[in-house]
Amino acid sequence: MSLQGQTAIITGAGSGIGRGTALRAAREGMHVVAVDVRNAEETVKEIVVAGGAATPVSLDVREPEGWRLLVEQTLEAHGSIAFLANVAGVVSLGADTAVEQTDEGWDRVIAINQTGTFYGMRAVMPAMIQSGGGAIVNVASVAGLVGMPNVFSYSASKGAVIAMSRQAATEFAKSGVRVNVICPGIIETPILGDITEELRTHCEAATPMGRLGAPDDIAAMAVQLARPESAFITGQVFPIDGGWTAQ
Ligand SMILES: NC(=O)c1ccc[n+]([C@@H]2O[C@H](COP(=O)([O-])OP(=O)(O)OC[C@H]3O[C@@H](n4cnc5c(N)ncnc54)[C@H](O)[C@@H]3O)[C@@H](O)[C@H]2O)c1
Repeated sequence: MSLQGQTAIITGAGSGIGRGTALRAAREGMHVVAVDVRNAEETVKEIVVAGGAATPVSLDVREPEGWRLLVEQTLEAHGSIAFLANVAGVVSLGADTAVEQTDEGWDRVIAINQTGTFYGMRAVMPAMIQSGGGAIVNVASVAGLVGMPNVFSYSASKGAVIAMSRQAATEFAKSGVRVNVICPGIIETPILGDITEELRTHCEAATPMGRLGAPDDIAAMAVQLARPESAFITGQVFPIDGGWTAQ
C-alpha cells in the first residue's frame, strides 16, 4: 500500500496548501511535478534537500496548451500519472458580492479556480484511464458548501468544483479514476492576505476549534486520498475545517 515511485502533479505547489501537499507526496516517495506560476522552484529545492524527487513547472492553469505539454512531458519522463492535486486558486482582488463584483473580477476567479481545475482534469484523465486508474483531489472550500460574506465569485467557483468532481467521479468510476474534493476551512497561508479582516474574524469565530488550520492539515488528507488504501473512496467531499460545517 505505497505511493513510492509513482508520479504526482500538484498545482499551486509554490505556496501554502499546494506546497504542503507537494512536500507530503514527496515524503511518501512520489516524484512530484510541482506546478505554479511562481515559486515552484523553491518547493522543489526543499523537496530535494529533504532527499525527495521533484520537477518544477511554470504553468498558468488557465492555459490548456500548457496543460497538454505538461502531461506529454510528464508521461515521457515517468510513464504514468498516479495523482493529480488541483490546488491552485485565488480569491477575488476586490469586493466580492453579487452587487459589487465586476465582469473582470468574476472572470478571473472562475477561470483560475473552476476552469483551471477542468483543464487539469481533462489533460490528466486520459493517461490515468489508459494506465488503469489514478487519484484526483480537487481543493474547493467550505465557501462552496455554506454562505459566508464577500466571497460571491469564489463560492461560485468552489461550488462548481464540487459539482464537477462528483460528476467526473461517477462518470469514470469504472475506469479506476477516483475524484474527491477537500473543502478547507480557514487555513493559515498567504492567500489570507487578500481577504478582509472582517472575513478572517468571522472565520475564526465560526470555527469550533477556535483556530485557523495549517497547510499540512489539508495536505495530509490530500495524500491519504491518493493512497491505494483509499481505493473505494470516490466522488466524496471532505470538509477539513476545525468543525465549522458540523454546526
Ligand atoms: N487558505 C485558506 O484558508 C483556504 C480555504 C479554503 C480553500 N482554499 C483553497 O486552497 C487552495 C490553495 O490556497 P492556499 O491557501 O494555499 O493559497 P496560496 O495563495 O498560498 O497558494 C495558491 C497558489 O496558487 C497559485 N496560483 C494562483 N493562480 C494560479 C494560476 N493561474 N496558475 C497556477 N498557479 C496559480 C499561486 O501562485 C499560489 O502559489 C486554493 O484553491 C484556495 O482557494 C484555501
